[in-house]
Amino acid sequence: MKKIYLPALFLILVLTNQIYRVNAQQKSIAQKVDSVLRLMTLEEKIGQLNQYNDDNEATGPVTLDNDKISQIRNGQVGSLLNTKGTDRVRSFQKVAMESHLKIPLIFGQDVIHGYKTTFPIPLAEACSWDLDAITLSARISATEASASGINWTFAPMVDIARDPRWGRVMEGAGEDPYLGSKIAFARVKGFQGNKLGDTNSVMACAKHFAAYGAAIGGRDYNSVDMSDRLLWEVYLPPFKATVDAGVATFMNSFNDINGVPSTANSYLQRDILKGKWGFKGFVVSDWGSIGEMINHGNVKDGYEAAWSAITAGCDMDMESRNYKNNLVQLVKDKKVPITLIDDAVKRILQKKFEMGLFDDPYKFCNAEREQIELNDPEHAKAARLIASKSIVLLKNDPLPGGAGVGLLPLSKNIKTIAFIGPLVKALKQNKGFWDVEIPGLDSNFIVSQWEGIKNKVGTGTKLLYAKGCGIEGDNKDGFAEAIEIAKQADVIILSIGERRDMSGEAKSRSNINIPGVQEELLKVLLATGKPVVVLINAGRPLVFNYTADNAPAIVYTWWLGSEAGNAIADVLFGDYNPSGKLAITFPLSVGQIPIYYSHFNTGRPAYSDDNHNYNSSYNDLSIFPKYDFGYGLSYTTFEYSNLQLSNKKMKANGQIEVSLNVTNTGKFDGEEIVQLYIRDKVGSICRPVNELKDFQKIKINAGETKIIKFNIDKEKLSFYNQKLQWVAEPGEFELNIGASSKDIRLKDNFELVK
Ligand code: GLC
Repeated sequence: MKKIYLPALFLILVLTNQIYRVNAQQKSIAQKVDSVLRLMTLEEKIGQLNQYNDDNEATGPVTLDNDKISQIRNGQVGSLLNTKGTDRVRSFQKVAMESHLKIPLIFGQDVIHGYKTTFPIPLAEACSWDLDAITLSARISATEASASGINWTFAPMVDIARDPRWGRVMEGAGEDPYLGSKIAFARVKGFQGNKLGDTNSVMACAKHFAAYGAAIGGRDYNSVDMSDRLLWEVYLPPFKATVDAGVATFMNSFNDINGVPSTANSYLQRDILKGKWGFKGFVVSDWGSIGEMINHGNVKDGYEAAWSAITAGCDMDMESRNYKNNLVQLVKDKKVPITLIDDAVKRILQKKFEMGLFDDPYKFCNAEREQIELNDPEHAKAARLIASKSIVLLKNDPLPGGAGVGLLPLSKNIKTIAFIGPLVKALKQNKGFWDVEIPGLDSNFIVSQWEGIKNKVGTGTKLLYAKGCGIEGDNKDGFAEAIEIAKQADVIILSIGERRDMSGEAKSRSNINIPGVQEELLKVLLATGKPVVVLINAGRPLVFNYTADNAPAIVYTWWLGSEAGNAIADVLFGDYNPSGKLAITFPLSVGQIPIYYSHFNTGRPAYSDDNHNYNSSYNDLSIFPKYDFGYGLSYTTFEYSNLQLSNKKMKANGQIEVSLNVTNTGKFDGEEIVQLYIRDKVGSICRPVNELKDFQKIKINAGETKIIKFNIDKEKLSFYNQKLQWVAEPGEFELNIGASSKDIRLKDNFELVK
């Protein structure tokens, strides 16, 4: 006994000291915050709650106003957004250092999927299902942004979206709360790095709180109408995941939920976020959303808007100026207690201290580091790999007489390739929406699709180009030239799709077909009898049934970022075996929307297209989407076998170990995303026909078999009941292991017992 006594005592002393030091460090920041707060006038406190857009670029409707510099010098500004480059950041920070209390500014930017090095749009990255790669993408984005003076990114956007008419579907992680939560966590970890205050870390911002992706009709900024139960079950989990990841800030959303604008929603911001979830960071409004409550008809004027927002827990006012113009009076009128102002100010000061900005206001303004980080070749390599991982192979039909072999991958020794389409030589298009425009930087660092293929093929390959047609419009003058080069080619690659700014903010579309005459171009090229690979570039699921039904090979390339050309070439020529799977359902027609896999069964379910009588279906449309959630092909095939459950009955505090074999039965090494779905057969609330509850992305070489293991616990069986209690109810459950939400390979049942 004595022998182990001393070491244990030593360990306790060390741990106590550690805890004391951490507390002391934390306490010292809290003390510093309090000491600054005590010196602040009411006007200076309110200044910290005021964020302006830098005049050089706007990501929303701009308000031209008086000199921001004097306001910064008077301590009336807490933060700027869209300020680019270390020199410009330094110039504003220097003015803040001339103010009475020298409180540093924080600089925010929409670094959504890259700063200079541009990664695939977030929806494309989500199709990689590769959490490590997604974290790395955010990590590199933060490294470059922080080297350029930015210490706060307005990302990750974690809005669940099930309506591809909504342009911002490109910015999130798709339709599923489980996959969306995992990706939200990964992105926060990537942006914030080891800890806030590291020079290569930026504050992340979970947005848009909440349910912005459920806008009625997929029309941006439109109302959202849903039960609290659905809000908790589908739309809140990714936000909770960001809190679990230690996210520094939140941004509330433009929309109202059930008639309450999120900016004024104290249930969201105080009861849930700051109360139940214990969030200690701060909440910023979305661009002008405080003032927009007047448009909502929720308040009568700016005075009421400021009162409503600060009372509901919105700490910082982006661009509306209502805090700056009204909060002093509201405090003097005793409409807003100073304690609410102090709480908001302390939350903001806390983050400025944690970021180390009080110690060194210029720590993110190192022009030398900026040049190094923005030109690190390792960043481009990482971007190329995650871009390859984000590509989804939708079709690769066996060629006639091809002995079951598809057109892809292409041989690098093809004699002649005709590369056709309006996006072949585009540069910036590949960046998608929410790219960062860096002043003075041209687009030549972006690898076009043409360049990517040229880099890939051998000197013996002749590469022919024709634009064929525009993205929009009905001009077919270019068809003849396209047909001409097609006739000379052994294979045609056709790159079509939407323009990069046809999805993104304020880009809702009622028609999500491939625009213009691009599919007609495909038709005339198919008529030449040459094999055609179609690349579809988009920020959303598009409807392209002619292409889907007639092209032998289709690759969904989304918008892949600055290494797009190389990534596409890696996949087309087999240097990377495509592994992406859809993170969102692709509708057969816009008339099917909303359509998603985890739907309730209804009392009159439709199971086939043979019968539309008296069941939940459209009489004039198939019940099936074009492509299912979780769908994506590979150049190889995988066989699932030997499903085993450790037990078929599970107690609430127990678990079931699941194991199965996955064999690569093809000729190519590849990665498979094994998806575990569960169906709760009977619940006090109807339960979805399937719900993703786990997944693993694994590399399996040709001919190899791997054993995959999962664990099922009560958490995976739980849902929000009518009283909003998170419960797992005893009864029968179905276990579905799939290569997609529809392609279920192995099934079994188990029971949760009391
Ligand atoms: C925009 C977007 C938001 C963005 C902010 C700053 O309107 O809604 O996502 O972070 O304004 O650019």
